[in-house]
Amino acid sequence: MRCEPAERVRGRVQVPGDKSISHRALLVGGLAPGRTFLANLGDAADVAATVALLRAVGVEVVVRGPGEVSVFGRGRGRWSSPAGVIDCANSGSTMRMGAGALAGHPLQAVLDGDQSLRRRPMARVAAALEPLGAAVACQGEDGRPPLRVTGLSRLRGGVEVSPEVPSAQLKTAVLLAGLAADGPVTVREAAPTRDHTERLLRSVGLDCATVLDGGPDGPRRIRLVPGEPEPFGLRIPGDLSSAAAFLALAAAHPRARVRCEAVGLNPGRVGLLEVLRSMGAAVEVEAAAAASGEPAGTVTVGSAGLRAVTVGGSLVPRAIDELPLVAVLATQAEGTTVVRDATELRVKETDRIAAMTEGLRAMGATVEGTEDGWVITGPTRLRGALVGSLGDHRIAMALAVAACLADGPTTIEGADCVAVSFPGFFQTLGALVQG
Ligand code: S3P
Repeated sequence: MRCEPAERVRGRVQVPGDKSISHRALLVGGLAPGRTFLANLGDAADVAATVALLRAVGVEVVVRGPGEVSVFGRGRGRWSSPAGVIDCANSGSTMRMGAGALAGHPLQAVLDGDQSLRRRPMARVAAALEPLGAAVACQGEDGRPPLRVTGLSRLRGGVEVSPEVPSAQLKTAVLLAGLAADGPVTVREAAPTRDHTERLLRSVGLDCATVLDGGPDGPRRIRLVPGEPEPFGLRIPGDLSSAAAFLALAAAHPRARVRCEAVGLNPGRVGLLEVLRSMGAAVEVEAAAAASGEPAGTVTVGSAGLRAVTVGGSLVPRAIDELPLVAVLATQAEGTTVVRDATELRVKETDRIAAMTEGLRAMGATVEGTEDGWVITGPTRLRGALVGSLGDHRIAMALAVAACLADGPTTIEGADCVAVSFPGFFQTLGALVQG
């Protein structure tokens, strides 16, 4: 993909349905006995992988229109063994959260994925589900996929699980498995992560309580009382992680104003907005009505002189997928930005620390990759270059933002991987830069 520098960046954007909520709504719908209706389901390739998982275990999913699907859930414990290997493609969410959902059924399933997914750590899912008595075996080297799940219709309750890293995917795997337990299941998290699953489970009639053990940013415990979800109807909000690229571009570009409508504003997802504000950007948020307990609203960001920041600690899980964009913003900010405590970036779809260090360096930025983040000094006038997405959708989108800020054309290799989360990304970007 060839990207030209942007003269200006203006307009309104409607992004596709939230990917994280889409996965969860599909899986919970598949566990509910009867028809669940979802609107504004994300059109991401990752979400399609979760639809394929459901179909493989006998859950009928019928597409009614763009973003509209009916899920004919079979109820708790009623999924059946798939005929072949379940292909999770590039989707870590499908593999990890799917393993949890599968664990509470009397079945055998093998989950596999593409080259990138085959390099991602899965022993953490096996470890998180083990206390419930679910057998999850990593068949690849060193705890990598494929994953073999041997489920049971009744799992062990009365257990407390502390996943080895703060991860919403691991928490969700435990909670979805916990629906089939014979007593309450508690997950402890050292730092809060997105709580879409907890909100959705509550909205479908289940008892899922959060106990704070040290303020809103501190450790917490989530306690689920097992049960069967009720079928539900849900309109999924727009994906803030997809809107993020445009919001970051609007803050860093000298002639810009972007309005993103109807996006989800879950407290575990808004870290980028906090970072933008501390960098000096004007971020306007107009709250809208919540749907199934998820806050949503319109976010507007315009040009600002940016200053350097330090990002670390409990802010990291709230901004995890947006940190490549923070690296781009840092190249335009006055001073030295430090991103730390983000070692998890090394085990995402690619090593995102290395990928952004390489891409931004090729564009002339002063960036050093550290073990757990970056040290970036700005502002730098970026220059157009040949850069690589390394097959990672978030890297492709972050480098496209950098390209819009550069002083010559940039070619992004492998940019079609944006379809993993946002197939229409380049069309939407194109409309904004001509706006
Ligand atoms: C996600 C959680 C995060 C995030 C991923 C989506 C989710 O992963 O990076 O893109 O939907 O729960 P981890 O749980 O591995 O931190």
